[in-house]
Amino acid sequence: MQVIEETRRLQERADRVRGEGRTIGLVPTMGALHEGHLSLVDAARSKADEVWVTIFVNPTQFGPDEDLDRYPRPRDADLRLCRARGVDLVFAPDASFYAGGHETWVDVADLTRPLCGAGRPGHFRGVTTVVTKLFLAAKPHVAVFGEKDFQQLAALRRMARDLNFDVEVVGAPIVREPDGVALSSRNLLLRSDARAQAPALVRSLDVAERLVRDGMRSREEILARVRAELARADLGCVEYAELREPEGLAPAPDLLSGPTLLALAVHFPASAGEGATVRLIDNRVLYATNPSQETPR
Ligand code: PAF
Repeated sequence: MQVIEETRRLQERADRVRGEGRTIGLVPTMGALHEGHLSLVDAARSKADEVWVTIFVNPTQFGPDEDLDRYPRPRDADLRLCRARGVDLVFAPDASFYAGGHETWVDVADLTRPLCGAGRPGHFRGVTTVVTKLFLAAKPHVAVFGEKDFQQLAALRRMARDLNFDVEVVGAPIVREPDGVALSSRNLLLRSDARAQAPALVRSLDVAERLVRDGMRSREEILARVRAELARADLGCVEYAELREPEGLAPAPDLLSGPTLLALAVHFPASAGEGATVRLIDNRVLYATNPSQETPR
């Protein structure tokens, strides 16, 4: 497994691989790798000849009060995990990736305003800008992102489409801990009593899925039941629980019809830092199919 730190060298390597007619599958990450990231590696492997992972804790997607300093950076363990999973190349630039002052931004407008965008101004602009830089550095054919960050995936798909990137943006399913909590590097930062309450998110998704399966279509009634389930985790502070249309993320209609995204963000106490919290997100697409939309048997 090759490890490259300079953008120019990565671009040369990408040109060579492309010149040989081989395809590149890219998995952009901020490190602290877990089984969720490794499932993205597997997905990239099924779509491309070479799998490249990028590891860069991108400062431009963290707000001033967010956990940039606390964000885990276990570089050696990350490289070991990549090697063991058969990754061909790791791109791990240092802070000079944004060298010389940075003035150019890529901003996907409306899609990034609600949900996480409302509470984290500038976050998605940081993500879309760094992913643009990574696409231009690694020149991938395919790039894989997790569906846990549903809004990020939607924004990156839209960016690739709007800017004519010749990159297939692929989503990979959420990977969960045995108790249902979605895998995230941030789970490690939770206070232990908060970690015990974190399954409230997946329980709320299950409740909503059951209600919709049993025929409930009222957006407000479903959200009321979701909020009641989340409230059972008394250490959690809900940032949002929303039903939205999955592609453009417009608010869902009063009566659901067709696929609808249920997206959640909840803050729990962190194990370190007086008053610090860890923000967990989760989501599920609910299939509110009306009788007229059902496939005839
Ligand atoms: O999902 C992440 O880990 C990050 O947002 C990404 C896509 C690697 C950009 O820094």
